[in-house]
Amino acid sequence: MLKKKVEDICNRQIEREGYSSNLYLAMASWAETNGFSGVAAWLYAQADEERVHFLKFIKYVNERGGKAVIPALKKPANEFKGVEELFKEVLKHEEFITSSINEIVALSLEEKDFNTHNFLQWFVTEQVEEEASVRTILDKVHLVGKNNMYLFDRDILSLRTPAAGKTATA
Ligand SMILES: [Fe+2]
Ligand SMILES: [Fe+2]
Repeated sequence: MLKKKVEDICNRQIEREGYSSNLYLAMASWAETNGFSGVAAWLYAQADEERVHFLKFIKYVNERGGKAVIPALKKPANEFKGVEELFKEVLKHEEFITSSINEIVALSLEEKDFNTHNFLQWFVTEQVEEEASVRTILDKVHLVGKNNMYLFDRDILSLRTPAAGKTATA
């Protein structure tokens, strides 16, 4: 049985993973309507992955005798200044999610909830990959500069790691 404190913080994470999915959908929609079809495809796939994370937390809470609460999600921004600014926001958001996961890890140890601690290890590893892949994208964006966005847009899907692809269908 999950302790109330752990259940509550997992429900907070359910909201954050659900919001992540919506945030990336909003970004995908912006990219799609601004001619960046590659960037849009990358973001749609990312939104799918976040939904997988959302479901993993929902199922975990319920499996442990808690009650997952399906939240209303706040509305993400729908306008972005450009591709570089967009990916800077993605990185900032992923860093926020990493610290959010780390807080749950810390609480699970404090509460001696080793099952939750074990469940979280997948997310700890995932966040390292998520941040690294967005940093790689930002490096490329800087490299190509604003005038070569067409080539970057064609190339971005090749930057999705096979592991990230796998989690999308897990
Ligand atoms: Fe996530
Ligand atoms: Fe993520």
